[in-house]
Amino acid sequence: MKTVQEITALAKRQSKLIYRDGDKLYKTFDETYSKSSVLNESLNQARIEETGLKIPKIKEVTVIDGKCAIIMEFIEGVTLEDLMDEHPQKIDEYLNLFVDIQLEIHSKRSPLLTKFKDKMTDKIFKSDLDASTRYDLAMRWREMPDHNSVLHCDFNPSNVIIKKDGTPYIIDWSHASQGNASADAAKTYLIFELDGKKDIAEKYLKLFCEKTGTDEKYARTWIPLIAAAQLIKGKAENRAILMKHVNSVE
Ligand SMILES: Nc1ncnc2c1ncn2[C@@H]1O[C@H](COP(=O)(O)OP(=O)(O)OP(=O)(O)O)[C@@H](O)[C@H]1O
Ligand SMILES: [Mg+2]
Repeated sequence: MKTVQEITALAKRQSKLIYRDGDKLYKTFDETYSKSSVLNESLNQARIEETGLKIPKIKEVTVIDGKCAIIMEFIEGVTLEDLMDEHPQKIDEYLNLFVDIQLEIHSKRSPLLTKFKDKMTDKIFKSDLDASTRYDLAMRWREMPDHNSVLHCDFNPSNVIIKKDGTPYIIDWSHASQGNASADAAKTYLIFELDGKKDIAEKYLKLFCEKTGTDEKYARTWIPLIAAAQLIKGKAENRAILMKHVNSVE
């Protein structure tokens, strides 16, 4: 029997419990998660493991007290989000590292991952936008340049753990897909903005464009398309920001 000290809860979400037991990290999901979505998250993670990126290795996928669980390596360290909060004066240095890690992800290929474009157009069709806007945005998505980079699709500083020796590990592969790197950058931009960090969002996008030689105007054309697909998540407080982007499409 483990003592409380040995088992540490790390994150409690409405429908997920994340805890540590020794060198293992347990991510358990309640019944609102289908078996297929948990298996999909672990399959994504297993596929990313094969690309050689530094991520926690999956040890087991199982059922504990009737709840699906992914058991993986525990990565000892501190998230880039905590570092950014603790040392705001170092934001440029951390953003630099953050973008470099994202570019390394984009340099990888994993041909069996879901295509981001298919996932996003499906979400737009399921949104509550009126039919002609839905159609127009989905067509725009289809016309955007295809690519086959590995995309994290939830790349934000809470999903990067820096080990004591400085090695960054990337976690939380539930949304991983393949597609155009600028689409992933637009997603990250929106995550910062919806988190009330518009200034960091702007800094981040500029840096991403600088490092990749991407025209900023072009990178920004992805933002309304990602915003439209996010409407389906339906958080009321986010809706105004997302709609502002959707309506910015000429
Ligand atoms: N393998 C791991 N090793 C150490 N800490 C971890 C690990 N996985 C998760 N954590 C910690 O738990 C937190 C939440 O984990 P994770 O990002 O996987 O869940 P989530 O953000 O709730 O997922 P989702 O985006 O799927 O809702 C992380 O920010 C990190 O602090
Ligand atoms: Mg996360």
